[in-house]
Amino acid sequence: MSAGPWYVELFASEQYLDIMSHQDDEVNRRQAGFVAQALGVPPGSAILDLACGNGRIAVELARMGYRVTGYDLSSVLLDAARRRASAAGVDLELVHGDMRELPYAGKFDGVVSFFTSFGYFDEQENQLVLERAGRALVTGGRLLLDVINRDYLVARHQPHFWREDDRIILLEKRELDLATSRSRATWVVLDKRAGWARREYRVDVRCYSAHELTAMLRQVGLEPLAWYGDSEGGPFGRESPRLMVVAGRA
Ligand SMILES: C[S@@+](CC[C@H](N)C(=O)[O-])C[C@H]1O[C@@H](n2cnc3c(N)ncnc32)[C@H](O)[C@@H]1O
Repeated sequence: MSAGPWYVELFASEQYLDIMSHQDDEVNRRQAGFVAQALGVPPGSAILDLACGNGRIAVELARMGYRVTGYDLSSVLLDAARRRASAAGVDLELVHGDMRELPYAGKFDGVVSFFTSFGYFDEQENQLVLERAGRALVTGGRLLLDVINRDYLVARHQPHFWREDDRIILLEKRELDLATSRSRATWVVLDKRAGWARREYRVDVRCYSAHELTAMLRQVGLEPLAWYGDSEGGPFGRESPRLMVVAGRA
């Protein structure tokens, strides 16, 4: 039985925490360092981690001295973020909500949408999320968006992928729909600690080219200021799997 759209079903599953357990503290620290640098806002500033998930970036930003709000639809992941913040001894404001209904205006020095947390809806609703994210910024604030690079995917699409760790085996079957620029996948997860129990999830994400994001940002009064191709600050190009853009009010 389906529990709603794919992004509700996948992220409401406790198993998602196992699927992502390879993102260790070292990875999270490095990526949060990149986020802070790319946003270019000093410690003490207010940062919104939009779709913060289990808080892996939000907690590291809080450790660095930022005032961090994590916003997410998944109560399971928000609970995990709460546990992570408490273990790290940092303050984190955690808010449950849908990014299409983000309520803030002129509140944050930086807004970050990290690790493919954008592009889940139809064209209009994805644009609406951008509008809401832009509205949440103070004058002079910065937005960092990290998505799959569509131009890379077109050339390097891998229809099958798998990975294994001590908890799970993940098998992915992926299709790239060129007409809609959506990457659609089925994930089959085998749980080693539950007698190899098998679960299936769907993923359906809009992938973007730089010119499209530029047009979408401009539509909400934001201007791209910098592009990156990875969270080491490497260059964006057709050889970079990621597309990361920093934008500010034009
Ligand atoms: C791929 S995860 C990334 C999480 C986090 N940014 C990170 O870097 O680990 C995507 C996140 O988007 C959240 N999400 C999905 N749909 C959402 C919605 N409609 N509104 C707010 N958050 C949503 C999920 O719950 C999940 O935490």
